[in-house]
Amino acid sequence: MVDAPDSKSGEGNLVRVRVSPALPELLNMKKKPTLTSVFSLFTTGITIVTNGTKKPEYFGCTINSFTSVSLKPAMFLFCLGNDNKHLKTFKLNSPLNINILANSQKSLSNKFAGKLEDRWKGVDYDISKNKVPFFKNSLGIIEAKVFQKMLAGDHTILLCKITNHYNFKSKKPLIYYKSKYQTI
Ligand SMILES: Cc1cc2nc3c(=O)[nH]c(=O)nc-3n(C[C@H](O)[C@H](O)[C@H](O)COP(=O)(O)O)c2cc1C
Repeated sequence: MVDAPDSKSGEGNLVRVRVSPALPELLNMKKKPTLTSVFSLFTTGITIVTNGTKKPEYFGCTINSFTSVSLKPAMFLFCLGNDNKHLKTFKLNSPLNINILANSQKSLSNKFAGKLEDRWKGVDYDISKNKVPFFKNSLGIIEAKVFQKMLAGDHTILLCKITNHYNFKSKKPLIYYKSKYQTI
């Protein structure tokens, strides 16, 4: 038996609940799984966030923490590691693009998760209305502005307001599951 919040009262009262007999059995597993390995069971798409409006300032980073948040107003969020040197370039109200990757963009995903100095080398990109680079072979892109930044442990949550969105030709998505690329 354990104490858990009472969902009926909605007042945060604690009630005694019976834990599934399967759970202690699972918890007694010889080796406790790492948190990363459990997070990796959650299948996601892959995006590249881009920002900067002048060539030497262009930045891109592969992220799978992109999440849609709200339709009115239109908003999404993503998370960047606090040790990311470019986190400070995502200033409030500054423009950025989210490129939703297609299965054909695996090497682009690797490039933008790899060495900073190699990221834009030999990469075909275009510039969108907000002057930020985007990749036209993506499934779609979202133009946005940073609305709010929230420190959350070793990452920062960036809540963004959408200014434009484009759905390109339908292709197969690039998917991430168990730290490996997949598709459907
Ligand atoms: C599929 C995939 C998803 C990733 N998602 C994130 C993410 O959501 N946030 C993040 O900070 N880094 C993420 N990374 C790691 C970054 O792409 C990058 O390698 C790391 O942050 C170093 O970036 P920097 O050189 O720009 O500091 C991801 C990497 C891969 C391959």
